[in-house]
Amino acid sequence: MAARVDRPDRIRGRIAIPPDKSVSHRAFIFNAIADGIATIERPLDSLDVRSTVACLRSLGVEITWSEGDPVATVTGRGLHGLFESEDVLDCGNSGTSMRLLAGLLAAHPLLSILTGDVSLRRRPMARVIGPLRNMGAQIFARTGDTLAPIVIKGGGLRGITFQSPVASAQVKSALLLAGLYAEGRTRIDEPARSRDHTERMLSAMGADVRQDGTAVTIEPATRLAAMSLRVPGDISSAAPWLVLASCHPDAELLLEGVNTNPTRTGILEILRAMGASIEVLEERTTGGEPVADLVVHSAKLHGTTVSGALVPRAIDELPLVALAACFAEGETVVKEAAELRAKESDRVDAVVQALGHLGARVHPRPDGFIVEGPVTGLRGRRIDAGGDHRIGMLAGVAGALVPGETRIDDDAVAVSYPNFWDDLRRASSGAVAVQ
Ligand code: S3P
Repeated sequence: MAARVDRPDRIRGRIAIPPDKSVSHRAFIFNAIADGIATIERPLDSLDVRSTVACLRSLGVEITWSEGDPVATVTGRGLHGLFESEDVLDCGNSGTSMRLLAGLLAAHPLLSILTGDVSLRRRPMARVIGPLRNMGAQIFARTGDTLAPIVIKGGGLRGITFQSPVASAQVKSALLLAGLYAEGRTRIDEPARSRDHTERMLSAMGADVRQDGTAVTIEPATRLAAMSLRVPGDISSAAPWLVLASCHPDAELLLEGVNTNPTRTGILEILRAMGASIEVLEERTTGGEPVADLVVHSAKLHGTTVSGALVPRAIDELPLVALAACFAEGETVVKEAAELRAKESDRVDAVVQALGHLGARVHPRPDGFIVEGPVTGLRGRRIDAGGDHRIGMLAGVAGALVPGETRIDDDAVAVSYPNFWDDLRRASSGAVAVQ
């Protein structure tokens, strides 16, 4: 599929932000091992979440959710009710599916094989395999137990104390799931706090999960109670619009129903530090998560530095920060973000290539990038998103900000935001065509 984007004169409108991907995965996985029937309102209907649902169905979980259904139901099998899958479990492009399910299946005395697409089969899995093996699971993978497919024969786990070298909610969640089944307490400490949707949801379902600074502990559980919820909007899917409206000279957007969980709001802090105008309205709670509407206007931006604890709180939005930095006065530095290189693509290289191709001055660092702004002479060109949904959206927003036509070869946006091109077309009064 290819999208053609021209720079519109104005950006206006209201966008109902699509449901949170992280919360949607967790709602299906945790309810699959709960007691009772859960109703999940507005789960994200995207390829990644469909991968999780397909894997859970192969493990014997009854999930009713047809295409286009705004509501799904999950009939929990209880903590010990999963069946051995007859086939390999295909996680598609989804790291969240693979790592969380690895943690869950490490606790089950079943043979499970997890695989994924070419991108996922290149992503680091030793970060979950090592600690799960320390907990007692038999778990193997390609190339010295680092790459999927992963083969698991689980069960008989004991709790561990694990100092994670990376701030990763996927690693933390995998170990928390395993910890539910282990003998004794499991403790995971991170270099900085990653998103805490797992802790919130498991604790609402009755698990004994405690936060202690950057560490989290979980006690073994005897049952989880099913949790019905409505999934809030994903701040990672609001981020393209925050950057588009901040950088466009004549813009105002209302973004409805955004999850403003403080472990996810790094992008708001970064853009505000750059001078953005973002108002937070109608604060409320949905599905155990704080939610608000955001109003964003055109602004005069200046450069900033992003590092430390801010990085995991904005990890998926950092490519968009590079784009905002192209329109900002002065230099923007993103550092201590080597994790960018371990995503659906190497997002340092992907950002340097995509924005560099449009004429931006973006320099790679081993752990991030430096952008010299403001860049004059940016021009639309043809960009290949390289199968990475966030790079596809970055290119779409860039196309709406630079003169000349930008053509994006994208086959990945549907991984997290199936209506992205429609929403871009509406916000930019038609300056987008999709073939
Ligand atoms: C996610 C955690 C993050 C994030 C990903 C979703 C999650 O990954 O980049 O898009 O749902 O737990 P890491 O845990 O690898 O940082």
